[in-house]
Amino acid sequence: MKNIALMASGEGTNVIHLLENQKTFELLKIKCVISDNPQSPLFERLPKYFPEIDIYLVEPNSHFKGSEKKREHEERILQLLAENQIEWVALAGYMRLIGPTLLAAYPKKIINIHPSLLPQFPGLHAYERAYESGQLNNGVTIHYVDEGMDTGEIIAQESFARLASDTLADFIARGKRVEWQLYPAVLKRLAT
Ligand code: GRF
Repeated sequence: MKNIALMASGEGTNVIHLLENQKTFELLKIKCVISDNPQSPLFERLPKYFPEIDIYLVEPNSHFKGSEKKREHEERILQLLAENQIEWVALAGYMRLIGPTLLAAYPKKIINIHPSLLPQFPGLHAYERAYESGQLNNGVTIHYVDEGMDTGEIIAQESFARLASDTLADFIARGKRVEWQLYPAVLKRLAT
């Protein structure tokens, strides 16, 4: 059994779906969640619905600047990962680029979910940009994390269609449903 940590900044719907599916992972155990955002609803939801999962708040220290700030922040994350004997890290809406400190400690062991068919629409607001483009074939990507912005090797992709009648909200809702089933499916396979 290998321990995995989840990292999230936002609403955390992928974290919740991963936790709901954790029994299917067999060889991976979700050990903890790390967030950099004290406003994330995960700080209320996890203790209520998944009390066995520790959730940690790790915010960057504003005394530091630039690459020093990232290094110091990631060193504190690294310490938590070590204390929890974590072998894999899955980013689920974590809004910071991963820096050299974490990448060196977890080479090809950090994965991310991105809401587009990469290399299309890397970076922020991918659903919005895909919708605005009007293209009909869209999708979700799971990839290894490297130093770039959503540039790491692709592990899995799944497409979904944009319908002519879609509002942006319809489009995002369809994409999220794909995310919620693709990420657990990939984690199930990953440790093998
Ligand atoms: C998802 O769309 C994910 O693909 C992207 O960030 C969003 C996070 O959503 N990386 P949530 O916080 O899991 O609801």
